[in-house]
Amino acid sequence: MRRPLIAGNWKMNGTRDSVSALIDGLLVGAVDVARAEMVVCPPAVFIAEAAARLDGGPIALGAQDLSEHAAGAYTGEVAGPMLADYGCRFVIIGHSERRAFHGEDNALVARKMTAAQAVGLTPIACVGETLEERESGATEAVIGRQIDALLDGPGVGALADAVVAYEPVWAIGTGLTATPDQAQAVHAFIRNRISARDATVAAGLRILYGGSVKGANAPELFTMDDIDGGLIGGAALDANEFLTICRAT
Ligand code: PGA
Repeated sequence: MRRPLIAGNWKMNGTRDSVSALIDGLLVGAVDVARAEMVVCPPAVFIAEAAARLDGGPIALGAQDLSEHAAGAYTGEVAGPMLADYGCRFVIIGHSERRAFHGEDNALVARKMTAAQAVGLTPIACVGETLEERESGATEAVIGRQIDALLDGPGVGALADAVVAYEPVWAIGTGLTATPDQAQAVHAFIRNRISARDATVAAGLRILYGGSVKGANAPELFTMDDIDGGLIGGAALDANEFLTICRAT
């Protein structure tokens, strides 16, 4: 059985006060969400504060990105060992906003997976097609390349300690959600692609759906066979909405 995972990607939002209030609200409600594993990924500058508040509780801490390097002259970057030092357990890699606005390509995402795992962080590796790619029938080709970069770089064994998130770019922050059938089809494609290399790893891999998930649409998405939880953006900034999504698992 794959334990459902719900990860909140807070993106570049919040203040010290709002982050504290959000975490407090999540902790109050988290007690009755035993089934799903919960993770929150605040902006890097709030990680220390979040770590202190979440310490010993039921919600795990994650980061939104990490450097492929462990230390050194990389101005503005945050290294995996720093995140691990603060008790982060997860890190998002290859989010479509990193790919689009920071030029991250499949090879870099693969190196970030290795960098994360080198310090015991579980990577949440994001893949997904743009609207143009979907409409031209290229969805499987694009996602196949994104998954193959992980299989050819870190290797299929690395996926035993990783999470994959399918996030159609056209569904992120747009209010457009993939239908449960559209999402399930891509999730099954991803699992089959990995299964061709290692069926056991593929069977155990958690594949999250992301893109305008809300409390209202989460239940039907989470009943699909190959959807093992969600990577939540906008709705993760509201404690009650996030908890509603967690309870839908
Ligand atoms: P959204 O973002 O839920 O706001 O669409 C999801 C994500 O980018 O991870």
